Amino acid sequence: MYQPHATRRNRLLSTLGDGIALLATAPEATRNADCLYPYRADSYFLYLTGFAEPEAVLLLDGRSGKSILFCRAKNPEMEIWDGFRYGPEGAKEAFGFDEAYALDEMAQRIPDLLADCRQLWWPLGHDEAFDRRVNGWLDGVRRARAGTHAPAHYGDLRALLDEMRMVKDEAEIALLCRAGEISAAGHVAAMRTVRPGQYEYEAEAELLRAFVRRGARYPAYESIVAGGGNACVLHYSANNARLQDGELLLIDAGCELDGYAGDITRTFPVNGRFSAAQRDVYEVVLEAELAGIAAVRPGAPWNAPADAALRVLAQGMLDLGLLAGSVDGVIESGDYRRFYMHGIGHMIGLDVHDVGQRKQNGQWRNYQPGMCTTVEPGLYIRPAQDVPEAFHNIGIRIEDDVLVTADGNEVYTAAAPKRVDEIEALMRGE
Ligand code: GLY
Ligand code: MN
Ligand code: MN
Repeated sequence: MYQPHATRRNRLLSTLGDGIALLATAPEATRNADCLYPYRADSYFLYLTGFAEPEAVLLLDGRSGKSILFCRAKNPEMEIWDGFRYGPEGAKEAFGFDEAYALDEMAQRIPDLLADCRQLWWPLGHDEAFDRRVNGWLDGVRRARAGTHAPAHYGDLRALLDEMRMVKDEAEIALLCRAGEISAAGHVAAMRTVRPGQYEYEAEAELLRAFVRRGARYPAYESIVAGGGNACVLHYSANNARLQDGELLLIDAGCELDGYAGDITRTFPVNGRFSAAQRDVYEVVLEAELAGIAAVRPGAPWNAPADAALRVLAQGMLDLGLLAGSVDGVIESGDYRRFYMHGIGHMIGLDVHDVGQRKQNGQWRNYQPGMCTTVEPGLYIRPAQDVPEAFHNIGIRIEDDVLVTADGNEVYTAAAPKRVDEIEALMRGE
């Protein structure tokens, strides 16, 4: 049976030599009084374990090749209140660890395991509270019987895991594609139901309903549901304005499925019909997005989609009369940033803005099969005297999630329509 988490642990173990890696999951977070935020395990921890209970710690021992979990003990009393816990035996069985122990055994077992290990890897500085615990365990080794040594070398575990996480494996690709499909279904539901006079949060409700009823309980990030000029606020999240006839609605939203993020933006007319000016700007952004997507292929440098999309946007800004001069001129001067002020996209995976270095030794890295990126150009036109009035308050972004394949790419969020005729047909109920 294919066990993706055990396979990832074994890959990491094979790079540790005689070192040890330690990783804690995320702490719980208080929202207010005795209410907690919905719990979300740490992404690195999910990547290596799939185990989503709070408080857990993973130890990988390169010398023995063992994966050892420390987790909450079974507790029938607490389980009456808070629900099922695996407990060490259950977790070992269900998640394929070599050994598993209750949390109260960490104080003894971890210093014993660290004794005479040469190198310790953990996400140094990621969580101060965990840094202090690691220091405590190291002190435990130093205080132990004479003749044992604490590790002399420390490394940041993130450096190893980020490289692994940049290239998605089969199980991750399946989850990302499903998260993409569910996210697309949310956008389709919003397009089908939006009407002038509704509030932005009514469209948000349609998105969330579509996510939850397909098993994705939470969005991957705060949904942006921005009518009219609100679309020019890049991280708009109030989502409480009334949608007016004649406005566009920009929705940037994606679900999280088993930890994996979807991230889609669509922009469409509240009344179902693009005006001539809206369509003119929209076609520029769509052409830029398609040019960006076409540049995502194995062997191409990371910045190729950014450059391809920017040239289309710059030409569009000149054609629309937003800027004067030449494509090279407005790119060189940076004048285009008045209407397009963000990057082309980001890797996507367990984190919506996923980990991984895009440059190595100062050079852009090349795309490899299994990498996933977003492509998300936009134009944001705030009212100003030197801008034709028909374009005032038009904010448009179009965003898809793209998997690099052996011979090109796959846009796995394509089920959310983005051509003008497709959007208008969907909104007419066809
Ligand atoms: N919604 C976050 C992003 O598009 O990057
Ligand atoms: Mn987005
Ligand atoms: Mn994005």
